[in-house]
Amino acid sequence: MKTENRGNFASKIGVLLATVGTAVGLGNVWRFPYVVGENGGGAFLLVYVLALLLLGIPGVIAEFIVGRHSQANAVDSFKKLAPKTKWHWIGYSGVLAGFLIMGYYAVVVGWTLEYLMQACMGSLSGLTTEQYGQMFDQFASHPYLPLIWMVIVMFVSHFVVSKGVSGGIEKASNILMPIFFLILLVMMVNSFFLPAASEGLTFLFKPDLSKLTPVSVLTAMGQTFFSLSLGMGCLITYSSYFKKDVKLPKIAAQVVSIDAMVAVISAVVIFPAVFSFGMQPEQGPSLVFKVLPNVFQQMPVGILWAILFYALLFIAALTSLISLHEVVTAYLYENTSMSRKKSSFLVAALVCVLGVFASLSFGKLSSLTIFGKTIFDALDFFTASILLPVGGFFISIFVGWFLDKRIVATELRIKHPKAHLFIKGYIYMMRFFVPACIFAVFLFTVFG
Ligand code: TRP
Repeated sequence: MKTENRGNFASKIGVLLATVGTAVGLGNVWRFPYVVGENGGGAFLLVYVLALLLLGIPGVIAEFIVGRHSQANAVDSFKKLAPKTKWHWIGYSGVLAGFLIMGYYAVVVGWTLEYLMQACMGSLSGLTTEQYGQMFDQFASHPYLPLIWMVIVMFVSHFVVSKGVSGGIEKASNILMPIFFLILLVMMVNSFFLPAASEGLTFLFKPDLSKLTPVSVLTAMGQTFFSLSLGMGCLITYSSYFKKDVKLPKIAAQVVSIDAMVAVISAVVIFPAVFSFGMQPEQGPSLVFKVLPNVFQQMPVGILWAILFYALLFIAALTSLISLHEVVTAYLYENTSMSRKKSSFLVAALVCVLGVFASLSFGKLSSLTIFGKTIFDALDFFTASILLPVGGFFISIFVGWFLDKRIVATELRIKHPKAHLFIKGYIYMMRFFVPACIFAVFLFTVFG
């Protein structure tokens, strides 16, 4: 095990923005609207909010406790806190999950670059809804164009990760993320003026519980883990750079609220447009790419908005991709004789190989399925809906049952006369409530 000089995030706002940087990404702008669309709208949103509050916030705090106390990466943190046990397998499963997620995430980040280029060339205007749809299908099913973008994306990610995380990209994203948020707000206001705005908002906010299936409950839980970067040690790694005076519950609540807000605003942008342009909400991964060009077209100086939007979405996605890349790289680097640069390169190269399969599942390999899902969908389902919640289950058991209560209490650092009640309540949640919820959702999916 290599030990290096471990840095710290310098300021409290730096801690918040770095964590928001990993959480806010394609999960909010691309994945959230399409899973809402596929799972019937309002009812799904309701379950999602419940999952955020009941599993998300406690889960984020749990990873923070493990990370800050151990000051180590996803695998070594468990080796430090629970030596000579098997708990560090949680870390291995996280490393695997990180790798598999990157395999399709990098493909989608590539799509954002293609759209950025199209916007710059002025091709994202003057087309009909059908033409925008065809444009995406032709691009995504192309045998090598999306692959070129994916390789470029992994190269950029490798460049940043091999230099260590804290350099330019983090500073840049601190400035750019708030701008991105403002653009989303402008697009949201614009969407209220679309002809079928009320239909879209009704779909999103009016729960129709009859549309809820057992699988959509699992999907809502999976989306919670995916969007918060939870269940694979990513937040353990990040919080290992937190200073001792950072208030973990407060940062957790802030990250979860910002993440949820970005997701909901994205959905408010998408659904009025879906209904206004006569599209179907259940289109899956292509949804936002087919809808957004129509939205920009409705806005004054639409092309400029489009360019800004895709550039910033790319950066938001890149900070998330980097966090995944970093978890796998840090593990390899600190546990083998490879240098940081070599580890990061090896990860990028392997991701590109996996990404070829994920990308071609929109074209040549579309008939190749695993349990009825394309390779792309199977990777997504297996990671978000299975590996991450299972990781979250065991982290919760670890913090609830195994970790010394005094460690939990010191890390929570609550200064309040009734603090012991909160700590007791939290440990109770991690012991029984959180694992039981995750378990129940799995049972419900299998037998429901
Ligand atoms: N949360 C990111 C998003 O919403 C994706 C992501 C980054 C992630 N790191 C992760 C997902 C770790 C799961 C685990 O786009």
